[in-house]
Amino acid sequence: MEINGRTRTCGLIGNPVEHTLSPLIHNTLAERLGQQLVYVPFHVEPGRLAEAVKGAEALNILGLNVTVPYKSEVIACLTEIDDLAKNIGAVNTLVRTTGGYRGYNTDMEGLYRAMLSEGIKIAGEQIILLGAGGAARAVAWLCAAKGAERVYLLNRTLDRAQTVAAEVNASACREAVMPMKLADYTAIPEGKYLAIQGTSVGLSPNNEDVVIADDAFYEKVHTGFDLIYNPWETKFMRLVKAHGGRAYNGLMMLLYQGIIAYELWNDVEVSESKARIVYEKLKDAIS
Ligand code: ATR
Repeated sequence: MEINGRTRTCGLIGNPVEHTLSPLIHNTLAERLGQQLVYVPFHVEPGRLAEAVKGAEALNILGLNVTVPYKSEVIACLTEIDDLAKNIGAVNTLVRTTGGYRGYNTDMEGLYRAMLSEGIKIAGEQIILLGAGGAARAVAWLCAAKGAERVYLLNRTLDRAQTVAAEVNASACREAVMPMKLADYTAIPEGKYLAIQGTSVGLSPNNEDVVIADDAFYEKVHTGFDLIYNPWETKFMRLVKAHGGRAYNGLMMLLYQGIIAYELWNDVEVSESKARIVYEKLKDAIS
């Protein structure tokens, strides 16, 4: 791609940022859509986030993604925030406005678009959500917002599950999320569930780790969605499949959170065929 005087810059702020796949997503989209845009990683040292956002604004940077550990801390650096991101308490996308940035959370909508594209539905479903950290929190919000009948939110530390459930239920005005201790998973009523794996257990290089190993648990799962995409197939996914369920990894979610950010920055719509091209590139990059 030719970089010239009209080229706009977007990027990722976080720590670390060295292993990110986001440049591949955005630079491929810019190339395919014929837009003058480059996307680069910015490693931000602890304590320098506010300076980084101010500097980006001064440099007229069009948009930023935000990753670990700054998704909550960045909220204090914004001039505006989208309601959904405010409710979730986490921002992963900054969009340039006059005089600053408006924050969004595209992780949640990204997961939703990923699920739609795989034919997985949330409305009216009974869902088991494993984990109550940053990623799982956004999933709990998504499930309640999209009309899940009930979400059993299981976490090793019960406190964290209780906090997320209280916040989501208060906003949804119903008891959509039921917090439970991970070890009490046998108390989940009989039935068939969509299970979403939102803990960090099983992430490469710990490919053989799984948050619940009991076969009886997987008998209750008709579809498993792991937010992890490295390894390509987690042990959680293998166990779901071994018990007759369908299993998906988190690469589609990564793709769509990026696509939604790109759409916000450039005021364009990315077609399914372009999305598919980027997906194949991501797949090659991680295999
Ligand atoms: P992220 O932003 O990726 O969600 P996080 O906020 O650190 O990361 O959350 C990690 C999640 O994985 C939490 O739900 C954590 O459980 P705790 O809240 O009890 O810490 C879960 N997790 C991490 N290691 C775990 C383990 N060995 N067993 C069970 N759950 C684990």
